[in-house]
Amino acid sequence: MARVLLLFFVCFGSSLCDGFIKKHHRRQAAPSLVPVEEYWFVQKLDHFSGADTRVWKQRYFVNDSYVQKGGPVFLMIGGEGPANPAWMTSGAWLTYAEKLGALCLMLEHRFYGKSHPTKDMSTDNLRYLSSQQALADIAHFQTIMMESLGLAERKWVALGGSYPGSLAAWYRIKYPHLVHMAVASSAPVKALVDFSGYLEVVQLALARNHSDCPKTIKVASEEVINLLSHKNYKKLTADFKLCELLEIHSSMDESFFIDTLAEYIMNVVQYNMDNREFEGVKDTSITIQVVCDIMSNNSLGDSYDRYATVMRTITEMNGERCIDASYKKYTQDFKNATWTPVSTGDSGCIRHVRNFGFFQSSDSTAQPFSGIPLSYHVQQCSDIFGPEFNLSMITDSVQKTMSFMEDLKYKAATSFPNGLIDPWHLLGINSDLSEDLIAVQMEVTF
Ligand SMILES: *[C@@H]1O[C@H](CO)[C@@H](O)[C@H](O)[C@H]1NC(C)=O
Ligand SMILES: *[C@@H]1O[C@H](CO)[C@@H](O)[C@H](O)[C@H]1NC(C)=O
Ligand SMILES: *[C@@H]1O[C@H](CO)[C@@H](O)[C@H](O)[C@H]1NC(C)=O
Ligand SMILES: *[C@@H]1O[C@H](CO)[C@@H](O)[C@H](O)[C@H]1NC(C)=O
Ligand SMILES: *[C@@H]1O[C@H](CO)[C@@H](O)[C@H](O)[C@H]1NC(C)=O
Repeated sequence: MARVLLLFFVCFGSSLCDGFIKKHHRRQAAPSLVPVEEYWFVQKLDHFSGADTRVWKQRYFVNDSYVQKGGPVFLMIGGEGPANPAWMTSGAWLTYAEKLGALCLMLEHRFYGKSHPTKDMSTDNLRYLSSQQALADIAHFQTIMMESLGLAERKWVALGGSYPGSLAAWYRIKYPHLVHMAVASSAPVKALVDFSGYLEVVQLALARNHSDCPKTIKVASEEVINLLSHKNYKKLTADFKLCELLEIHSSMDESFFIDTLAEYIMNVVQYNMDNREFEGVKDTSITIQVVCDIMSNNSLGDSYDRYATVMRTITEMNGERCIDASYKKYTQDFKNATWTPVSTGDSGCIRHVRNFGFFQSSDSTAQPFSGIPLSYHVQQCSDIFGPEFNLSMITDSVQKTMSFMEDLKYKAATSFPNGLIDPWHLLGINSDLSEDLIAVQMEVTF
């Protein structure tokens, strides 16, 4: 999750595995143009086993240009993707740092980027990937930094956007003696198995300037299903510029193809008019306006033709040669446990975030897509991680996450900024909980 352009808005390159956006159209954070020094912190592998003394090296970044005596420490929390060093020289938080004389630190989340706690991402090792361990990492990091840099008297502020926003809020709750305040931007602090509301917000966002836009998309996506049922694979392959001839052997292959297209639209809404050029994102010019202008342009053929034009336009603007809609390839990629030098950690991310559910199903009637039901999302988990990842297992795990979160009582001095066309805001805090637990809602005009 990521989005709007307003002050307060901090966000990392990816958001909840980009809402499980397929790898090929993930918005990868490009390396910073300015070389920023990397630092390494010796971190514990398992914070919850006293007997386990294994350690690993966690990456972090520092900007000390604005530090003043007595100023606060800003601790930017990393999330489910590489921590992008571009944040050390850009972003609203540096403006605040300049004003307040703050030291800025950014800590990468375990299992992402270059922060590899284990020798690979095997299932066995992935049990060390959890939000609880991540919070304990932050606490240990802060404690050692306070001692070694003499920062114990400073006021520490935790910041994060998206999942790290939730971590910032939880950090304030779990370690109130360490952190003075949290800024939990676009933080989905609630867990939910069937997040069908996601596509409802997508529909509302699409309809803002073109009331017919969702309806035209619905008609188009139903025509796609119709062509699938007539096995018109060659036409679909050509119209949507697929990388390979569409191969359909199961309903999962079909749903994956439909989902792949739908996710391009979801991505446009979620990242509408974001300001992440500084992070190296190329395609910020693709907006809801661009999509809906095409969908409502009568001279571009019928709804289906316009939908295909939208997809070709988006991929072109993304700099993608074609659309990869192979479910087989997709699931295979996730089974690879080998680290890449700067790991997006997709496989781990999906497992990790599955503790929250967050399945963006098409099971609501107030949304523009068909053919991506909850059962498809659950089957995807079983196909990637094994049959034990079924609905009851996931429901149990989400239940556990929810009871962990329900036990949490939000601590004072937390702000929860959310953009209202960001679908994830539904799982956030949208009204003030008290005088200093404040919801900041942001309208977007476009
Ligand atoms: C901190 O950020 C400012 C603003 O971009 C930049 O000018 C400065 O070089 C950065 N300092 C360090 C140590 O990275
Ligand atoms: C889109 O809608 C918003 C509010 O609904 C309006 O302020 C804006 O002018 C519209 N933009 C265009 C390009 O129509
Ligand atoms: C509709 O599409 C045609 C062909 O690309 C283009 O020339 C025209 O400007 C578009 N109309 C609008 C209102 O965007
Ligand atoms: C797994 O990923 C690594 C690193 O990207 C790559 O070198 C290797 O070829 C992949 N293995 C398979 C079986 O795809
Ligand atoms: C899900 O998997 C568990 C463990 O493998 C099994 O006990 C349970 O019956 C399965 N539930 C469903 C609904 O398939």
